[in-house]
Amino acid sequence: MTQWHAVTRVRDLEGRKRAAVTVEGTTLALFWIKGKVYALADTCIHEQRQLSKGAILFGKIVCPGHQWKFDPETGEAEGQDGRCAPTYPVQVTEDGTVLVSLEQVEAVG
Ligand code: FES
Repeated sequence: MTQWHAVTRVRDLEGRKRAAVTVEGTTLALFWIKGKVYALADTCIHEQRQLSKGAILFGKIVCPGHQWKFDPETGEAEGQDGRCAPTYPVQVTEDGTVLVSLEQVEAVG
């Protein structure tokens, strides 16, 4: 059974569009993109910079390290032979609480 963790509120994400949260020792990067919340591993798969300090550009997450662009839904890094950042399930409750699970979503591709 999926274990969900309350990590923030949507209204707190809407302003900055990104946040780092730690759940049971795992740090996740949360993003608010086009009205939806996404969770990825905060540590970049390239050289370990923090994705939560990156930018959002045309719906993609841009790592502050070397500007790899990640699809927020799948975690796939554009132009990197299908390499993917781990992504995590997210739910938003009716009162705007953001819940995440540490059960990684299987990478596609
Ligand atoms: S550390 Fe993220 S692109 Fe290099």
